[in-house]
This record gives sequence, structure tokens and C-alpha cells, in this order.
Amino acid sequence: MVNLNDKVAVITGSGRGIGKSIAINLMNCGAKVVLSDINQDTLQASVKELEALKGQVMGVACNVTVSEDIDKLVKEVTDKWQRIDILVNNAGITRDNLMIRMDEAQWQAVIDTNLTSAFKMTKAIAKVMSKFKYGRIINIASTTGVHGNFGQANYAAAKAGLIGLTKTTALEFASRNITCNAVAPGFIDTDMTKALSADIIAKVLEKIPMKKMGTPDDIANAVRFFASQEAQYITGTVLEVNGGLYT
Ligand SMILES: NC(=O)c1ccc[n+]([C@@H]2O[C@H](COP(=O)([O-])OP(=O)(O)OC[C@H]3O[C@@H](n4cnc5c(N)ncnc54)[C@H](O)[C@@H]3O)[C@@H](O)[C@H]2O)c1
Repeated sequence: MVNLNDKVAVITGSGRGIGKSIAINLMNCGAKVVLSDINQDTLQASVKELEALKGQVMGVACNVTVSEDIDKLVKEVTDKWQRIDILVNNAGITRDNLMIRMDEAQWQAVIDTNLTSAFKMTKAIAKVMSKFKYGRIINIASTTGVHGNFGQANYAAAKAGLIGLTKTTALEFASRNITCNAVAPGFIDTDMTKALSADIIAKVLEKIPMKKMGTPDDIANAVRFFASQEAQYITGTVLEVNGGLYT
């Protein structure tokens, strides 16, 4: 059983979906969890849900593309709990289009939300972790960032960038006992994929050797491993959790 007693975990984009599952999973291992999201409604609802499970939880509204929001989050969390041990860069969006039709706004929104945000969060929170000579940073990438995907040039570039960021963070912070790894989900059943047409879902399912979508818990379980003491000598790696898709 993974023991995260007294560890403080910040999870971005955790008002719903994979981020929320990660928060519940880490909380069930004893961590104090910080839910954060741009969407205040889902954030507040999820905070209430986790409080009802008797966990130690706080909610902080944070748009990860806004530097002032990140600074505010770090201050609020350290004022309350003094430290941050685990950071999960999970917030992400899609703006799919074939490259020939993709406009610069679609490109930039995805790069800002899925990649630049992780650079900013990591920079701000690794500073706190460095003081305690302990940290676990886990970036939620994507199978698309490893293999590419039709209609997702922006998303593939952002997630591939996130993998490069993961490996460099691992190198630069290893001497401070801070690890950084990425989990690359395949096709997971959340609101993000529910937005796809039935036709596209059927086509993707055909390509998955296990012939089913993953669940948010499948991703949360991988994150829990990287967050654990047991993973203390693993850094700079990418774990694909995708039912065999493209592998
Ligand atoms: N669902 C999948 O199949 C899948 C596959 C591969 C990777 N991923 C990645 O997993 C992560 C979570 O995805 P999900 O499926 O749970 O999606 P989701 O859309 O259900 O949840 C994403 C959350 O991020 C929040 N968010 C969006 N922009 C934000 C911002 N600027 N600041 C703060 N929060 C913001 C949203 O409000 C939402 O709560 C994303 O990074 C996504 O790219 C998902």
C-alpha cells in the first residue's frame, strides 16, 4: 500500500476527469490534496465530494496559463500547509483540426494550456520542493505526443514538448531529490473524449489491441506509483497507459 501521509499534492485541472481521479487516489493514500481548476463550478463540487470522503482537501481556482494565478496558488498552499511534495501537471485542452485548417489561435491555446503551463508550474513549485529536498513531479502527456495523430498537430506538439520538459526537469532537479516522470494516456473515458463523434470513437477503438477505452483510474494508478516512495529511483521516464495502442 502506497503511503503518502503528510505529503501535499497539487493537481492542476482537477475539477473533473483524470485530474479528479488522481486527487482521490492520492488522497486515499493519505496525501493532503489541492484541487485546482479554471472552472470554479466543477472545482467547488469536487472539493465538496472529496471533503465528504473525509480527506484533507483544499480548492484553489487557477488558470494555469496565468502566471499570477500560479503565484497565488503557491502562496495559498504554502500558507496553509507549508510545503508541496507532489505536483501533477494535468490541465489540458484540445482544439482539433487538420493542420491545413488549423488557425494560430487553436495552435497557441493548446501550447499555452498544455505545455507552457507545465513549465511555469514546475518552475514555481520546484522552488518550494527544493527547500525540502524532496519532490515528485508527474506530467500528464499523451500517446499522441509520442506517436502523433491526425487533426492534432497542436496537441501532439504540446504533449511531445511536455515529454522533453519532463526529461530536462528530471536532469536539472535530480540532485535535489526531485523526480519528474510522465504518464502518457491513450484513449480514456472522460468528458474530453465524450466530445468526439461516435464514428471517431469507433475507429479508435478498432485500433486499440485491448478493444476498450481506459478509465481515469487507470491513469491515476500510474500517477500514484510515480508519486510513491517505491519510485524514488525512477526519473525522466514516460509510461504509456493505453491498452497497447500503437505500441
Ligand atoms: N481523455 C483522454 O483520452 C486523454 C488522453 C491523453 C491525455 N489526456 C490528458 O489528460 C489530462 C486530463 O484530461 P481529461 O480527459 O480529464 O480532460 P477533461 O477535459 O475532462 O479535464 C480537463 C480539466 O482541465 C481543466 N482546464 C482546462 N484548461 C485549464 C486551464 N487553463 N487552467 C486550469 N485548468 C484547466 C478543465 O476545466 C477540466 O477540468 C489532459 O492533460 C489531457 O490532455 C487525456
